[in-house]
Amino acid sequence: MARKPFVAGNWKMNTTKASASELARGVAAGAPDGMDVGVAPPFVYLDAVREALGSSRVLLGAQDCYFEKNGAFTGEISVEMLKDLGVKFCLTGHSERRHVIKEPGELVAKKAKAIYNGGLIVIHCVGEKLAERDAGKTFEVVQKQLEELTPDMNDANRIVIAYEPVWAIGTGRNATDQQAQEAHAYIRGAMAKRWNKDFADRVRIQYGGSMKPENAKGLMSQTDVDGGLIGGASLKSDSFLAICKAAI
Ligand code: PGA
Repeated sequence: MARKPFVAGNWKMNTTKASASELARGVAAGAPDGMDVGVAPPFVYLDAVREALGSSRVLLGAQDCYFEKNGAFTGEISVEMLKDLGVKFCLTGHSERRHVIKEPGELVAKKAKAIYNGGLIVIHCVGEKLAERDAGKTFEVVQKQLEELTPDMNDANRIVIAYEPVWAIGTGRNATDQQAQEAHAYIRGAMAKRWNKDFADRVRIQYGGSMKPENAKGLMSQTDVDGGLIGGASLKSDSFLAICKAAI
């Protein structure tokens, strides 16, 4: 099953207005055809980045959102607000939100539903901590996180899973090609059971966790690895574009 690769940069809490715009211009200038490329800057730079991306095909993304439509939710940002700024995809369940900000699975699930119902692409992040892997619980953890999505969210173009082993994020220690393929194959199988095989075959599953130009080709040439969610290496257009090119 040929799936269109999708590589997205998660800029996290980095950049300034000027450097975000410059990075976006660099990505827009070099983004390859034949795949989806996206960038997720901090909220406050979304508008500047949209302008910098201009008419390029690079998808604008957000790192988070709140599930309510509007109202008294101090500090929060709704899906409608994101759409107003031209956002096309939004992350949910990133490990830093789960484990650093302590966002519970129930909240992740509500956000994912709101993003999907709002018509955007959901990039839903799943992945085990090192102790969970060592205890043989990788599949169990990933299964539970996948269940934050419901089978009525069934547009395969708008559901993307990012498998991001927590021990590989920002550590320089990536999963091996085999470890990534094993987890991705599990995820696709689990999705075939919860949705159906056709849906599971069409959903893109990105790998995330210390992906860089040197390891991108090996990881993304695995059968079930359909792209990447890139943190550190997405903060320079050269390294991010080198990873994009490794996907096609
Ligand atoms: P990293 O982050 O590439 O810096 O490991 C990946 C992510 O958190 O999405």
